Parts: sequence; C-alpha cells; structure tokens
Amino acid sequence: MPEERAIHSMLEVANSPITPARPLHLGDPAPNFVARSTMGQISLSDYRGRWLLLFSHPGDFTPVCTSEFVALSKSANRFAALTCALLAVSVDSLYSHLAWVRAIRDSFGVTVNFPIVEDPSMVIGRAYGMIPDAANDAGAMRSTLFIDPTGIIRAITCYPATVGRSVDEMLRLVAALQRVDAEDIVTPEGWRPGDDVLQAPEIDQDVMLASGGDIWFHRVALGRNTRPAKP
Ligand code: BEZ
Repeated sequence: MPEERAIHSMLEVANSPITPARPLHLGDPAPNFVARSTMGQISLSDYRGRWLLLFSHPGDFTPVCTSEFVALSKSANRFAALTCALLAVSVDSLYSHLAWVRAIRDSFGVTVNFPIVEDPSMVIGRAYGMIPDAANDAGAMRSTLFIDPTGIIRAITCYPATVGRSVDEMLRLVAALQRVDAEDIVTPEGWRPGDDVLQAPEIDQDVMLASGGDIWFHRVALGRNTRPAKP
C-alpha cells in the first residue's frame, strides 16, 4: 500500500497537542485525519481556508439520518454561499455509505453532494468525542463540529440519535461565527443574518462609567463596527 493512501482512518496525533484521550474543546485545533470517503481520500487539512462542518451520524439507512442527509444535500447552495464545506462521518463501511447514497438518490431523487467518511476503527469518532470512550457499541451521537478556515474548532453541538438536527440552525451558527469574526460585536439570542447585532461587553470600568445613560450592558450596534475590527 502506498503510504499516502489510507485504507482506514488515521489520526495524525503526532503533530497535534490533542490526543484521542483528551476531550476536544472550543478553541482546539481539529486533529487531522486521512480517511476514505464516498468522494475519494479525504484529509481534514484539505479544508483549510474554508469553514467546515464535520458531523457524525449514528448509522446509514436509518430514518433520522436519511432526513438530515436529504436536507443537507438540498441546502448545498446555502452552505456554499458561506464558503462552508460539509463532511459526514460514521462507523459504517465505505460500501455501506455508497449503497446509502444510491438509495437516497433512487428513493428521494437527491444526490448526496458532500463526502461521507468511513470510520470503522472508530478512531475519528473517539478522538472527536462522537463516540463516548465508555461506549461498547459504535453508534455515534449526532455531533457537529464547526471548524474555521484556520482549522480551529469554534462550536460543537451534540444531539441524541433520536432527534434530528436543524439545517437552518447549522447555517445560522456558521453565519453568526463569521459575523463575530468580521467585527467586534456579539450576536443576540436567535440572531439571523440581517438582524441587529450587539456591542461586545465593556471591559474597561472608566469607559463603562463614562458612557451614556442607556442600558450600558445591552447596546445594539446597528450593524456597524463599533470598535476597531480585530486584526
Ligand atoms: C435514525 O437515524 O433514525 C436513528 C439512528 C439510530 C438510532 C435511532 C434513530
């Protein structure tokens, strides 16, 4: 086997401070891996420069997962508009993934337009916390990792197998992360693109005390940069 070609998933832990034994946190670099997928060999590092949703599903050919994959595939343009790629992973074999992609096309008329990685050894699932260390079966949770263009984990969501994720919420969270990166502002509850954003919390007592008489801890930023943009 040529060295570059992965048969099973391999984590590149040697060059990373993260080891599979340590839970991943927001702000951690996403551990790299090389694995087979329905669209050829994938290296996580190939996604540098783009946002990436890396998400696990409990199993191919299951109802909730199928609904998610149909909805995600139909939303490809909305993710592309955010320069955000999709990458699915489960413990099912590549051949199961391929058969499921075909069944989805035949049954729903929808082509799954993102790669599905096989993780039969569970090395990716365990490293990313998609499969609890103590689990004695391979059914992953519905974990979604929001990875920024520099390879940093910026958000993690975790749903049970029985409840499907919301594609709208995935898109909303990517858009919110992009907005707070672009300006020194924060996004309020339920924020959607086009809504007002808030000024970042004040951290300087003198500035705070000298500020006007409105609600100093909750100020609409009116969609403008209110402080110098982050370098
Ligand atoms: C589902 O995708 O429908 C599913 C998968 C595993 C357990 C329960 C539901």
